[in-house]
Amino acid sequence: QQLKLSLEQIEKGGFEHFMLKEIFEQPKSIHDTLRGRLLVEEGIIKMAGIWDNLERLNQAQKITIIACGTSWHAGLIGEYLIEEFARIPVEVEYASEFRYRNPIISEKDIVIAISQSGETADTMAAIKMAKEKGAFVYGICNVVDSSISRVTDAGSYTHAGPEIGVASTKAFTAQLTVLSLIALKLGKHNGHLSNQEFMRLISELDTIPQKVQEVLDTTHEITKEIAKNFVDAQNFLYLGRGYNFPAALEGALKLKEISYIHAEGYPAAEMKHGPIALIDENMPIVIIAPKQGHYDKIVSNVQEIKARKGKVIAVVNKGDTQVASVADYVIEFPETSECFSPIIASVPLQLLSYYIAVYRGANVDQPRNLAKSVTVE
Ligand code: G6P
Repeated sequence: QQLKLSLEQIEKGGFEHFMLKEIFEQPKSIHDTLRGRLLVEEGIIKMAGIWDNLERLNQAQKITIIACGTSWHAGLIGEYLIEEFARIPVEVEYASEFRYRNPIISEKDIVIAISQSGETADTMAAIKMAKEKGAFVYGICNVVDSSISRVTDAGSYTHAGPEIGVASTKAFTAQLTVLSLIALKLGKHNGHLSNQEFMRLISELDTIPQKVQEVLDTTHEITKEIAKNFVDAQNFLYLGRGYNFPAALEGALKLKEISYIHAEGYPAAEMKHGPIALIDENMPIVIIAPKQGHYDKIVSNVQEIKARKGKVIAVVNKGDTQVASVADYVIEFPETSECFSPIIASVPLQLLSYYIAVYRGANVDQPRNLAKSVTVE
């Protein structure tokens, strides 16, 4: 027993939990996912799986992304990325829904399956169905040689390294990194993305590991402090727009998974169609509000929340004054292109959930009722 404990402590590398260690590993895991692929000086993205199937992918009638849990949230951001840069229609489905209906899928379709473990039963079954219908299936997995990586026709690994904490953190940001690479590469080769824009975006993507390091350094203590105020919260709302709407869903999922506080993610503009009825002085609202992406609209959302006495935790760009001046708590992150902002903005949300859960005495690495890899249906 003693030996086991000390081994585990070594594995945690001085961190109290695997989850915290994995949150802090993100500059490296994102860098590892980019390494050898993003060649900024040469102005290229090198990905064999995409290159070998370029024509097929770029001529796809539509791309359907299938996944579960956190990977499904990455898929939603993938939809925004691929539609914006490659202009190919994308749908995102829960694997468990896709497999039990009769989706319209043909040989002209591409299915992208995203899975950290590469073992999720519903995703596996959905892939089999898509293949039977003749679709070409592309996998984005973290675990090398996993079942999903073996049954897919081609794919790209996320190089996040082993993820032990049940709540996914570094695998999620690595998935976003791979999806960014794919969208930019497709867009470059099918002509929808100008060379100049491509160059600008890949230079920016190259700075993401460093910006994630910066957000870890500057927000770790702040999120820990903020978390203390919400130990007894019973509900949370997470709001974001555009690329940060799925980031809001993921933020809410992280909190639910490990702290057992009920949390919902919503597109900020949908607030008026329901969630606004819930807002009072007992409702904490995390709002992701980078400068780009309809910032003025977010400002008015924040004002509406404050008028109803909701507690606002604003996740804003460094130097923001407008949202920051009305918010109750402010978490700042470095500016980047809107399409990459969820990679950075997700990090303080992971920390916030982590500390709320720790203060509540929850078992963050092994939350009740959850499994790291769901191999049953
Ligand atoms: C479980 C895990 C989640 C994960 C989901 C999908 O629910 O607890 O963290 O997002 O499965 O797993 P996958 O391995 O397919 O990404």
